[in-house]
Amino acid sequence: MTVTENPFLTGNYGPVPDEITAVDLAVDGALPADLNGRYIRIGPNPYTPPEGAYHWFIGDGMVHGVELQGGKANWYRNRWVRTAPITEARGEPAIEGPNPPMYDASNTHVIGHAGRILTLTEGAIPYQLSNELDTLRRYDFGGPLPTGFTAHPKIDPVTGELHGFAYWWAEPYLTYHVIDAQGHLVRSEPITVKGPTMIHDFSVTRDHVIFYDLPVVFDLNTQPFPFRWDDDYGARVGVMPRDGGDADVRWFDVEPCYVFHPMNAYDDGDNIVLDVVRHPTMFKHSTIGPNDKQVPTLDRWTVDLNAGKVREERLDDRGQEFPRVNDTLAMSKHRYGYAVESTDTDDGFAFGRVLKHDLSRGTVDEHKFAAGRVPNEFVFVPSDAAGAGEDDGWLMGYVYDAARDASDLVVLDAHDVTSAPVATVHLPRRVPYGFHGSWIAD
Ligand SMILES: [Fe+2]
Repeated sequence: MTVTENPFLTGNYGPVPDEITAVDLAVDGALPADLNGRYIRIGPNPYTPPEGAYHWFIGDGMVHGVELQGGKANWYRNRWVRTAPITEARGEPAIEGPNPPMYDASNTHVIGHAGRILTLTEGAIPYQLSNELDTLRRYDFGGPLPTGFTAHPKIDPVTGELHGFAYWWAEPYLTYHVIDAQGHLVRSEPITVKGPTMIHDFSVTRDHVIFYDLPVVFDLNTQPFPFRWDDDYGARVGVMPRDGGDADVRWFDVEPCYVFHPMNAYDDGDNIVLDVVRHPTMFKHSTIGPNDKQVPTLDRWTVDLNAGKVREERLDDRGQEFPRVNDTLAMSKHRYGYAVESTDTDDGFAFGRVLKHDLSRGTVDEHKFAAGRVPNEFVFVPSDAAGAGEDDGWLMGYVYDAARDASDLVVLDAHDVTSAPVATVHLPRRVPYGFHGSWIAD
């Protein structure tokens, strides 16, 4: 396959050529006046056309942000994160901060923690951005992060701590990190796993930390992205008490599969409930992206600590990814979960509707977009009104509009996702399909 045929470089996966700023954006509908802050989402956007093989996960990171204030959409900005390859290519001064261990990238997630906006990629050092999306510095929480950090740390809504980890190709293969509510690294605990596996995300409950040791393994012979499926590796989840350490981790077998993203996890008596998006395989048939032509389903894994077993059940068999919940309930029992319908195809993810799961009733509400309008990740933004319920708030994400060859920021009422959007902010150009983001309130 030549680079130009790579589906992750064509259509709305393809990069945009430059950075723009657009102000006073046109809005259809009415933006909620109490949404004050910025929606920022990141994804790959190669700075120069890739030569040779290209894997979607390795493109230079670009953030796309929209500032909302008092019912207005003040601006849209897109900016490359100033990793060393980007500042070198642009002839700009290098960004200061701790040196990355090996891999200098930032394309996977954006979070707000302890007053900082951070962009993240696994195995790399986070970058801190300004409110206007300029890169300020590399930031390692006071460090050290000798094997980098994950793109999927978890903010504890009760303590304000940030729980994270890092995986690596050499021992220690896995390290658990805790960052305090002020953004300082306070604990690093090496965790013993069998080998160098790709661990994209993990789970934290009020009492436990859960690691996914699954059969995507590091292999330098697999290029340009050195990971592949291993039929012989097995699949396990490790459960560690939050106040315990490596010696306290208990491992439980699951059916081989790959999980990029748990939706949420919580303790339930002597059980731990893990709602996960499960891919039957990953990087078994493709070396350019997550396109093994499989259907990723929403599954519930119940870890029975007394029986020493994991009970696996399917909650929804339609393809879906990018699961989210109301993050004020992270680590505790959730009733509602959100995801974007998606199937792994030869041409990348085929995205469809935005899904709202009611896991108490076992029902799913869908937001169906008009033909030619394609969503990406949608994030839940909780209402801060007194007495707000779990699904009182909004769902927000970029939607590509093929008719305009441009994107919109679409805001749905999370309480009533089947209805027309509350507001649609028209952006002057397209936002390429990407990865994760956050609403970062003022
Ligand atoms: Fe992810």
